[in-house]
Amino acid sequence: IRCQSTSTNEPKTKRNLLDNASNLLTNFLSGGSLGSMPVAEGAVSDLFGRPLFFSLYDWFLEHGSVYKLAFGPKAFVVVSDPIVARHILRENAFSFDKGVLADILEPIMGKGLIPADLDTWKQRRRVIAPGFHTLYLEAMVKVFTDCSERTTAKFEKLLDGEHSRGGDAIELDLEAEFSSLALDIIGLGVFNYDFGSVTKESPVIKAVYGTLFEAEHRSTFYIPYWKIPLARWVVPRQRKFHYDLKIINDCLDGLIKNAKDSREEADVEKLQQRDYSNIKDASLLRFLVDMRGADVDDRQLRDDLMTMLIAGHETTAAVLTWAVFLLAQNPSKIKKAQAEVDSVLGQGRPTLESIKKLEYIRLIAVEALRLYPQPPLLIRRALEEVVLPGGYKGDKDGYTIPAGTDIFISVYNLHRSPYFWDRPHDFVPERFLEQKDSDGIEGWAGFDPSRSPGALYPNEIISDFAFLPFGGGPRKCVGDQFALMESTVALAVLLQKFDVELKGSPESVELVTGATIHTKNGLWKRVNIVLNFLKNGNYEFALQMVEIKSDNSYQK
Ligand code: HEM
Repeated sequence: IRCQSTSTNEPKTKRNLLDNASNLLTNFLSGGSLGSMPVAEGAVSDLFGRPLFFSLYDWFLEHGSVYKLAFGPKAFVVVSDPIVARHILRENAFSFDKGVLADILEPIMGKGLIPADLDTWKQRRRVIAPGFHTLYLEAMVKVFTDCSERTTAKFEKLLDGEHSRGGDAIELDLEAEFSSLALDIIGLGVFNYDFGSVTKESPVIKAVYGTLFEAEHRSTFYIPYWKIPLARWVVPRQRKFHYDLKIINDCLDGLIKNAKDSREEADVEKLQQRDYSNIKDASLLRFLVDMRGADVDDRQLRDDLMTMLIAGHETTAAVLTWAVFLLAQNPSKIKKAQAEVDSVLGQGRPTLESIKKLEYIRLIAVEALRLYPQPPLLIRRALEEVVLPGGYKGDKDGYTIPAGTDIFISVYNLHRSPYFWDRPHDFVPERFLEQKDSDGIEGWAGFDPSRSPGALYPNEIISDFAFLPFGGGPRKCVGDQFALMESTVALAVLLQKFDVELKGSPESVELVTGATIHTKNGLWKRVNIVLNFLKNGNYEFALQMVEIKSDNSYQK
């Protein structure tokens, strides 16, 4: 299903035409193999006028937590229920595969964890998941801090320039800045490669963005146009995609060769003893090569790295973007966050220990993920007939879904469900500290941090699948702690030095959905040094765009 946001105020005539088309469609569709399941009969214009997950939310309120959404001969089951989501993701995880998502990602990620067949997945998950252990994460905190400081140093330099011209603030597209930051971090953390994208451009960086763009386009398009014979040679866009892919693959192959050639027994011993204190390269690639011997299959390794590059880049950038978007609308929460940063870090640098004390910053990151989950939908296809449990409301007996049924678990709906969250659309990081019991909801255990002792961040276990930003069950994200700590560090370092204001109204930041939710035209922020900001109390909304050049100079 393709859905990109445009203005919600479309001309009435266009909406009417689309509505008529939808009525025809709905008549044609009634019935289907899912028995008595409610059918969403929304207007087709609902799908084209705004991001898909908005319409899925309205239908959730109208039809309940499990309903059928039909398009022509095709039907999807939309799930917005923690009990049913838990059943699909955890209790019956292997009765499903990734369906249409695997079709889209396989040409890019090969046999990487996300699209991999079950046998490959079992083998690689066992090897990769242990790589994200606590000492690795501790070593990564330094990488997160170094890269975040590189970003803030760039802002400071721009601001200095502005000061010398008599100005007091700069305007930046923070979505683009966070994208560069997250790319640099994932490169260093996963394969010890410094993209340096915060400060420069390179063919590899361009290729990564080109590939991401194509992956996103594919995830929002009806027809698998990339499977059309000869398309990869004839269609210029497909030729470019394969060219980009080759550039990245060549780069990854070089890094894998280098990691294998430079494998040293001394390093292996340090890794075996989990001694990260004086190891030169703490990356995941080093771990995978050193711990598994030099005979690990290069092609598989490359697919693993590519998967983590794609899975861990835009997702984290989006968390930072939406966290700052939400903060910018809540100056009192910025102040509260800055007070915490001042008391925990002062002018110092974040460490694993300080992350444990930065409670409010951690909650800001998870609250941003609650409101803007990445991805907003989890996709599954039933491999066999499955009997779903009854949800928390109505339909106590649940539904039987036939093999081949495509399912969307709407994380967006779950995270904004009025049945599980108070003021579901409001930005309230503190909410996670106020436990919510199950209120007698049969089959749902409510929120309880003691179910996940020692967890730094709220998760699907604590919330019994009402909050699942990283999925759940065996296919849960392997990089969840990496991403959350990265977001905590980046936010803390940013707020330590800067205040942010939104340029224009929040409504002017339009949403676009593909694999993740991101803005249509960037997130333009006025970045200012806190002291100046307080002194001037300046809320001017400038209407200028700033072009940042490769040498860091910029032009309004
Ligand atoms: C899987 C979200 C960062 C690597 C997933 C899934 C979600 C998710 C929801 C489950 C997908 C499903 O069940 O269909 C996120 C978010 C991130 C993030 C929101 C950032 C805030 C990362 C990072 C890495 C990573 C940093 C790697 C360094 C993976 C991998 C999988 C995955 C390899 C597939 C796991 C498997 O199937 O066994 N992620 N992710 N992710 N993620 Fe993440």
